[in-house]
Amino acid sequence: MDLDTEKIGAFARQVAVAVTGAATTAMVVLGDELGLYRALAATGPATAAELAAATGTHERYVREWLAQQAAAGFISHHAAKGTFSLPPEHAAVLATDDSPAAMAGAALLPAGMFRSIGKIADAFRTGQGVAWADQDPAIFASTERFWQVSYRGSLTSEWIPAIDGLQARLTAGASVADIGCGHGAALILMAREYPESRFTGFDSHPESIDVARQRAAAAGVADRVRFKISDAFRYTDDGYDLICFFDTLHDLGDPVGAAAHARAALAPWGALMLIEPLTAGDSLDANLASPAAALNYAASTFLCLPASLAQPVGLGLGAQAGEAQLRAVLAEAGYSHIRRAAENQFNMVLDARP
Ligand SMILES: C[S@@+](CC[C@H](N)C(=O)[O-])C[C@H]1O[C@@H](n2cnc3c(N)ncnc32)[C@H](O)[C@@H]1O
Repeated sequence: MDLDTEKIGAFARQVAVAVTGAATTAMVVLGDELGLYRALAATGPATAAELAAATGTHERYVREWLAQQAAAGFISHHAAKGTFSLPPEHAAVLATDDSPAAMAGAALLPAGMFRSIGKIADAFRTGQGVAWADQDPAIFASTERFWQVSYRGSLTSEWIPAIDGLQARLTAGASVADIGCGHGAALILMAREYPESRFTGFDSHPESIDVARQRAAAAGVADRVRFKISDAFRYTDDGYDLICFFDTLHDLGDPVGAAAHARAALAPWGALMLIEPLTAGDSLDANLASPAAALNYAASTFLCLPASLAQPVGLGLGAQAGEAQLRAVLAEAGYSHIRRAAENQFNMVLDARP
């Protein structure tokens, strides 16, 4: 069979773009870790020597990094003056986490994935899972930094107001649990906004609970937020007005069991708020239409699916389960009223009542 050489060339270029993206991502992680973006945003146009001096790094390395970043179109090169600058629009993406467009934390995701290739390859061969705790620490940091952007933009301004009566209850003083709270980002945002309420974060990963406690203390909300090491099926507190799962339910081996446990821990009027990655639809074909599909399925293959398969039941929903499967999980767990309350560009929010 004759191959179409033009198609081969075009596809090779497509793969080259992906390889270049991966290499550039490594350079982003480096720039983020060394403070190069933040320093360049602060100094304005700078030579390699000036940027090296501002960041305590060596000029020869910085010169190479700047050249690559200019080649990638991330940084501008001003040939006449021999300086480099980070356009303010690019600074909003790479030099800060406090921007709706922040992406430096997302770059940590592939960094962590590359370091876990051996473990994941073994899992493909054995069919066993890889527990969340056994992922590379870059994954924990990336999860916190990436999802925080979505939560900061929507949680208290859109998602909570979209659930009937919840905002008033939280303002007056309610009790909230976050299951699989990770580093506590969502709970801390709520604690800042609703000082009369009390918040408990549960997570089975002790290191994440340690970080969450540090984050709550640094945010000045430790008086109303507590964190406990606990599996999603084992916490014994109840009477909660709100129980949340932020990007966690699909990671669990037994999401039906965890949702049923939460149902028993809710007050009769309480609400379960389920925050899941946004999917384009309920089928593979529909999901493939999303521009984020390749990233979402990659994260699911390396993190979400193996996390679920490492736990009892091992349902393995994956990160792109879709609304229909999530509704089925909640219905099986006994929830009677389930509705889509909100969404943003990253997440969908389901509101379920016992
Ligand atoms: C994808 S992370 C999400 C973290 C956090 N909710 C966020 O949005 O940043 C999933 C979290 O679920 C936790 N987790 C996984 N299985 C769990 C289980 N069976 N019980 C409690 N937590 C669990 C992990 O330790 C991890 O912190």
